[in-house]
Amino acid sequence: MIADIQDARALPGLAYTSKDLFAWELERFFGQGWLPVGRVAEFTEKGTQAAVMSAGRNILITGTGDGVNVFVNACRHRGHELVAPACTVRRAQVWCAYHAWVYGLDGELRRAPRFEDAAGRYPQGMGLLPVRSTEWNGWLFVNHSGDADDFGESLGNLTDILAPYHLGTLTQVGTEVYDVHANWKLLVENYLECYHCPSTHPELSKVQRTVNGEGFASTGMWLGGSLDLKNSAASMSLDGKGPEWTFPELDENRARQVCYHAVLPGLFVTAMHDYVVTHRLDPVAPDRTRVICEWFFPEELLTSTGLTPDYAIDFWKTTNQQDWDACSSTQRGVADPRYVAGPLASHEEELHTFVRALADAYRTDSQLRPLWTAR
Ligand code: FES
Ligand SMILES: [Fe+2]
Repeated sequence: MIADIQDARALPGLAYTSKDLFAWELERFFGQGWLPVGRVAEFTEKGTQAAVMSAGRNILITGTGDGVNVFVNACRHRGHELVAPACTVRRAQVWCAYHAWVYGLDGELRRAPRFEDAAGRYPQGMGLLPVRSTEWNGWLFVNHSGDADDFGESLGNLTDILAPYHLGTLTQVGTEVYDVHANWKLLVENYLECYHCPSTHPELSKVQRTVNGEGFASTGMWLGGSLDLKNSAASMSLDGKGPEWTFPELDENRARQVCYHAVLPGLFVTAMHDYVVTHRLDPVAPDRTRVICEWFFPEELLTSTGLTPDYAIDFWKTTNQQDWDACSSTQRGVADPRYVAGPLASHEEELHTFVRALADAYRTDSQLRPLWTAR
């Protein structure tokens, strides 16, 4: 499994089906890593209280008007959720519906019926439990364990590579949420290779080359590479048509490339000359992953060309469904106890790098590490 690619094998079926391994991965990879939970702008409005599930953990995000706070979504009295899962409310204070304890948007306890002392004070040190968070390119990331390395530093050169796309300033123009019946690793592996593209994605293969891409030299917790647009195509769209408009800071080569970046373990950023599409992975069970796909456009493109983003949305909806069908089918295949892991193709180099990092983490009982930065 950790042999060189010509001798390597894919992961055994158990890696995609074991409940014990899944629980371990939630703890090690997702609990101790940085996970995107949405765009900061979704939550900043004062009084916003959003309950979000992130890798099996229940968090509460509050908006303060100029920023956000993130807490464990459990009351400090006896643990009732402060906001129901997947719900968002707007209120000046956080209110527990069970026994009516009240907290500020900053998490401080403001009221606890029958707990006030003679001076009318409430118990000290009973504020909501904070969850570590940071912002990167407009996304809110959380680290459940609280002790991950600094996120920006852990990304190495990715922030610079993505700088020409100005991700933090783009306008979100579409969102699709998928319940994919496949292990999260199958989705990462699928994203890291285009060996499947000619057979799985006929539409994509008409507008983008599927071989002879460039593997990026990552110096952080991400893997990726680029593939060229075909000469006949103006954009990643179903009919190959698209705007001439290009992010101004892209050089000539980049402007003709589709650049794929998998920020491990849970965010894919696919950047093109005219727009960006992202996928966030939220593992739900060994054989289920919630995927949130979001489309981002530069406002300037929309206003200067008068185009609507439908060409990008339709294209990736088609491509997404093909990928999820392929991953779900693979999940069913590897779940058969008679399945024996097969060899990797030379076009699966990035996937091999990912599998190596997984194997190292399993062997050493540790967090995913960017072993490739030493190569
Ligand atoms: S559990 Fe929240 S007030 Fe009792
Ligand atoms: Fe695909």
